[in-house]
Amino acid sequence: MTQLAAPPWSPIGWMPDHTIRLLDQTLLPNEERYLTISTVNQMAEAIRLLRVRGAPLIGISAAMGATLAARPRGDSADGALKNVLRASDDLQATRPTAVNLAWALERVRRRARAAVAAGEDLHAALVTEATAIWDEDRAMCELIGEAGLHLVPDGATVLTHCNAGALATGGIGTALAPIYRAHASGRKVNVVADETRPLLQGSRLTAWELARAGIPTTVITDGMVASRLRRGDIACVIVGADRIANNGDVANKIGTYTVALAARSHGVPFYVAAPRSTFDPATPDGAAIPIEERLPDEVRSSGGGVNAVRVEVWNPAFDVTPAELIAGYITDAGLLTRDTLGSLRS
Ligand code: MRU
Repeated sequence: MTQLAAPPWSPIGWMPDHTIRLLDQTLLPNEERYLTISTVNQMAEAIRLLRVRGAPLIGISAAMGATLAARPRGDSADGALKNVLRASDDLQATRPTAVNLAWALERVRRRARAAVAAGEDLHAALVTEATAIWDEDRAMCELIGEAGLHLVPDGATVLTHCNAGALATGGIGTALAPIYRAHASGRKVNVVADETRPLLQGSRLTAWELARAGIPTTVITDGMVASRLRRGDIACVIVGADRIANNGDVANKIGTYTVALAARSHGVPFYVAAPRSTFDPATPDGAAIPIEERLPDEVRSSGGGVNAVRVEVWNPAFDVTPAELIAGYITDAGLLTRDTLGSLRS
């Protein structure tokens, strides 16, 4: 029997009154609590605090959040447009690295201007646009799963870092999409998930969603990656991306670069899975990607432990993996190399 690749739950949804339902990812795996988001500020805070996270999903969430600024309140058309543009700027300021956020909000701004110019109902137009962004992402996840399916043969073990699954997108994920597809087609697949310090997206989130899907998963701490790769049982590494620069350099969760170096040393192919909304031809290379730095306390209290000594902490949320370490890009336009990435320009 063919199983469905898509999980029966969603990290985001519309409520009947077009407020937004969000799964609070900071509480997983201990608690599954859904939040109702009814203001732009609440959505901005949810993105900033990683209650909702993952590059494609923060783009979708921000687009849905911007619609809240256009809910009918008796404003003039110009006043409503100003509210939407201000909301888009506020939402964009929440996190700098994932280009999907800016990409989705640019679509919102364009659609808002066009709707007001044409005398359309602004709120309805933006709900349709945000829903389209979500639907398109879901479809791109399926195509990514298809493009990467051959990399996950029966019996394969895949190593991944952070969470680039259904909790991070509008569909079955990016890095996890080929794994979900392989599992759904009856192949036996195993995943090794890096814990992903300091916020533990691997051990909290990847492990949670793969366990729910019945996919055998082994969690390792980030420092164990090289030892695990040396055992020789990892078919490939697949990670997601927050931004792919024009030359193929990739920003992704801090620690990804270390994994790529270790994979190269052990002859294990390292793949990046991402939709076209993550490709940023306007950013020439990795050095031009803005890297978010987060509060020191995330490191001090990581894993429940608290550093007794108040020393300095450096807490970049992302790092850049140079293109030469990347075997291929698993995208909605197929498996690409850095020379063919340009086909993602839309
Ligand atoms: O800080 P996060 O949890 O939003 O970081 C997420 C990642 O780095 C993911 O790997 C990336 O966004 C791709 S998600 C499909």
